[in-house]
Amino acid sequence: MAEPKENLQMEKIVSLCKRRGFIFQSSEIYGGINGFWDYGPLGAELKRNVKELWWHAMTRQRDDVAGLEATIIMSPKIWEASGHVDTFSDPMVDCKGCKKRFRADQIEPQTGIVYHFSGAYDGSKFNPLLNQYPPEFRDAVKSQVLEFADDYKKQTDPSEEIVNALKARALKFKAEFKQDNCPPLTELHKEYSEAIQNKCDNANSVLLLPGKPAESARKTAMQFYQQRGINTPNLLDERTEKLEAPTTCFCNECQSELTEPKPFTLMFKTYVGPVNVSALDYKPDIDPKKLEEWFKAFNEGEKNIAYLRPETAQAIFAQFKNVLETSRQKVPFGIAQVGKAFRNEVTPRNFTFRSREFEQMELEFFIKPDEVVEAICGNVATLSDSQPSTLNPQSNWGWQAWHQYWVEERERFYEGIGLSRETLGVHHQTANELAHYARACTDILFKFPFSKKDEHGNVAGDELEGIAARSDFDLSQHQRFSGKPMGVFDDELRAAWGKLPKEKQDDLRKRYYNHRKNYLTKSAKTSEEVDAALKQADEDANGLAKGQYIPHVIEPSAGVDRLILALIANAYSEVTSTDDKGKSETIYMMKFHPRVAPIKAGVFPLLKNKPELVKKAQEVRDLLRPWMNVYYDEGGSIGKRYARQDEAGTPFCVTIDFDTLGEKPELLDTVTIRYRDDGRQERLKTSELLAFLLSKIR
Ligand code: GAP
Repeated sequence: MAEPKENLQMEKIVSLCKRRGFIFQSSEIYGGINGFWDYGPLGAELKRNVKELWWHAMTRQRDDVAGLEATIIMSPKIWEASGHVDTFSDPMVDCKGCKKRFRADQIEPQTGIVYHFSGAYDGSKFNPLLNQYPPEFRDAVKSQVLEFADDYKKQTDPSEEIVNALKARALKFKAEFKQDNCPPLTELHKEYSEAIQNKCDNANSVLLLPGKPAESARKTAMQFYQQRGINTPNLLDERTEKLEAPTTCFCNECQSELTEPKPFTLMFKTYVGPVNVSALDYKPDIDPKKLEEWFKAFNEGEKNIAYLRPETAQAIFAQFKNVLETSRQKVPFGIAQVGKAFRNEVTPRNFTFRSREFEQMELEFFIKPDEVVEAICGNVATLSDSQPSTLNPQSNWGWQAWHQYWVEERERFYEGIGLSRETLGVHHQTANELAHYARACTDILFKFPFSKKDEHGNVAGDELEGIAARSDFDLSQHQRFSGKPMGVFDDELRAAWGKLPKEKQDDLRKRYYNHRKNYLTKSAKTSEEVDAALKQADEDANGLAKGQYIPHVIEPSAGVDRLILALIANAYSEVTSTDDKGKSETIYMMKFHPRVAPIKAGVFPLLKNKPELVKKAQEVRDLLRPWMNVYYDEGGSIGKRYARQDEAGTPFCVTIDFDTLGEKPELLDTVTIRYRDDGRQERLKTSELLAFLLSKIR
């Protein structure tokens, strides 16, 4: 369960996370469970801050977004409609040697020489006999025995004549090599013949990496046969093949052969209601009389199958109509949700980056189809006219402008919590990478310590968030699967449509019809279904004149845990200094932006044994506490208390000293505020402290 020790920076981060209580391995006392992580005291605060900042930016600070909090388990029909039941899987390969499982698309190509073996036999009796011969004769002896065994095998009747021939050959051999004390070849032949009868016939191939000795490939192949019950494997029919091009057919860890890729469903399955789960396990030796009973139980169980949601988005689509009707929103508007998602990832990795249980912050922002925008506004703004980074949303924005706007908004959000543009990147998905229904998807990347470098040493980063333009696919799917209408009525469209010239109406209608036809005919299998799809597309296109359409969606979808990891990696800093006596000390500091920092201010009385200082410090703590997370600390030297807060990432420390109490009358009721990042200290009036801190953390 430990993180691979390939990235020193990641190792340090993982270690600090545990030491300071940011992130712990789930179920650690039982050895952990792969892909699951717990957030400790500081991590829980950090996570809460991040989710609240997202919620605030995406809902409360906007008029056009409403919130939702849906259940994790929903009707399994939702996952049929979304396509997850049929397609949410990763191609997976198993290593035939070390038995580890990997995602096929994550195997690094390797080059070298492939060693092929047709099988192996157990040499536990044969080898000790052979080893009684001096090392320089062993190959010759072995080939004598194997050669003879081949001849022997060719005979239909292993007659006395054959046995005598072997004896004669053995005598000749003995005479030639003068090895009187060695076991006779007949004995070796007997052991070999017995062992070969029980040989393992599984062929195996191993890749020998450049610069490695051939023996290492043989050793790996031997492990493969040992796992298949051959205690002392003697490899058979070794053959080598030099690879012309890099291959992804071998394990990146042990270089054994990988299995063919198989789809591996990522959804966690469960049962709802009182299902006798043990009745569902098929037992091969089941009494035939009980088979019917088992089928019945199995079918009952299948009816109760449910899934842990693999994304929060689908609940938003399923509740679209309810939110629309109760929130008094009108398209364009969004629905936001933060919550748990579960994916049975094939290879959870990179600490929390790819987990099996994680949280998402998703917005589904519903927009008018471009044909509707054009009908109402007379045009659809192009990307160059709209420049979303400097403009407020405009009524003539089509999907492209909205998509770009959300990419910009999200990048601004990350900047606002301390991830500078230099630490981020973007990846515009290519046509091959896009889901079939998506028109565009831009990933916002963060340069994690484990992110790969290209051949020029540049780091692109790994995905923090994807912003997808998903057309009207999701609502259309839920309309089709639930039979409930997902379209909206738009009075502006109805009014505008009536005023359009006939040619414009025909043009817009035709474009909308073609779009609907493309979607609807995709799922039609028979000619009747195609006819029904065309009829439906025609009806949908007629709906425009009545002010009806199915909204399109722009989806900014972010992972909470990936963002937490990015914030931790971004904040991590260490400084090692060496004193005059040569003793070196490393100081760690988490430079979180004050908005996300788990603790906003440390509050310290200069001395704990001075009741006046303690009383005043507690008053300051109580002044700040209703507004922010503060940490009161009176233990240890003031330097130690600062260092503890630096490691926790606390941006400000407030010290109450004798001047606060009026030792220097001009400093009465002032405190020292110390800044984490540069150690600077200044005095501030106590009466101004709260407003000052609030201005920094909001
Ligand atoms: N509704 C769209 C959707 O779920 P996604 O790209 O599969 O899209 C969105 O997931 C975000 O969720 C990702 O950008 C990532 O931040 C986060 N995420 C996805 N799988 C994750 C995993 N296994 N562990 C942690 N975060 C994950």
